[in-house]
Amino acid sequence: MTHVFSSLELRDLELPNRIAVSPMCQYSSPTDGLAREWHRVHLGSRAVGGAGLVMAEATAVEARGRISTHDLGIWSDDHARALEPITAFIREQGAVPAIQLAHAGHKGSKNQPWAGNEPVSLEAGGWEVLSPSPEAYPFEAAPEAMRAMDQDDIDDVIEAFRSSAERSLAAGFEVVEVHAAHGYLLHQFLSPVSNRREDEYGGGFENRTRLVREVTAAVRAVWPDDKPVFVRISGTDWLPDRESWDLEQSIRLSRQLAEMGVDLIDVSSGGIHPDQDGPSGPNYQVPLAEGIRDAVDDVAVGAVGGIRTAEQADALVRNGRADLVLVAREFLRDPYFPLRWATDLGLEEATSLWPVQYRRAVGN
Ligand SMILES: Cc1cc2nc3c(=O)[nH]c(=O)nc-3n(C[C@H](O)[C@H](O)[C@H](O)COP(=O)(O)O)c2cc1C
Repeated sequence: MTHVFSSLELRDLELPNRIAVSPMCQYSSPTDGLAREWHRVHLGSRAVGGAGLVMAEATAVEARGRISTHDLGIWSDDHARALEPITAFIREQGAVPAIQLAHAGHKGSKNQPWAGNEPVSLEAGGWEVLSPSPEAYPFEAAPEAMRAMDQDDIDDVIEAFRSSAERSLAAGFEVVEVHAAHGYLLHQFLSPVSNRREDEYGGGFENRTRLVREVTAAVRAVWPDDKPVFVRISGTDWLPDRESWDLEQSIRLSRQLAEMGVDLIDVSSGGIHPDQDGPSGPNYQVPLAEGIRDAVDDVAVGAVGGIRTAEQADALVRNGRADLVLVAREFLRDPYFPLRWATDLGLEEATSLWPVQYRRAVGN
């Protein structure tokens, strides 16, 4: 029977189980975007803890694509080299290293959340952010400088995703995820709330989804045929009172992405506008994942959001609501919870999941 500890095959890659560390910004690089000891310990300890896949946080494909001054980046070979020991360690634990490639668009040039998430001035190290339509910027604290993207900017962004995927491969990642959710650049193009363009990147569905398709095609073209590509989308903007991005468009886009060789749609939600009115609590985004899984053939679906217990996660897989369970905050509370879950679910081979160095702690 398929359960959360059964393996998942995607192309030639086998995930040892279906528990994934959802990408989580750590805002812990110095302003050079390089990975440091924090990233190694943060990601490494979750691999020790039994996750089947460990995804590095939203990693900026270019410096002006960072959310904050302290984001992780992969815009040079030095960045890739700094990530190499981390992917090697994750693989040594039997887990699959993955990376989320991201561009913040107009939600960039901020300081860290614990410093207030405030715009950073150009003088203090901020930058001019890119936007599909600066006039539609909806948040209170706007970056000091914002520019509507022209065709050269669009070409540069596509190229930045492409070259960052190449560097991710060189760094040892086995899965690459395109971040098209949470109100960041690619989502800014998808949603009519933030996209007011009148060129071939704005207006109807085909135009608004064009950049996501072009970025995905560029990434898929350099990512090996035997390795999977994921795309994270916001399944809905949670803005039913206006023209916005919704589940129906997400299903349409997921079909197109599946045809282009995307292997898994990672279904999150929201982030485009402060008026969003969405649910929270256990499994709060699962109906979106399920809606896509039911409607789209030939693509795996990841569920994320409010997943905290073994029984809950196992039921999602057992009942065919999702192929992969991504977990964020529970991994912050306890990096080793998959080891506990295996015991809670009565898995026969629970002990063998524990690292040999820790086995004396099993059962007593
Ligand atoms: C500290 C933190 C950082 C996050 N950073 C990212 C990120 O880099 N990329 C992303 O797609 N989602 C990010 N998220 C969202 C999570 O990946 C996840 O979708 C969300 O927290 C819901 O899952 P949960 O209920 O298991 O926490 C972040 C969440 C947290 C708590």
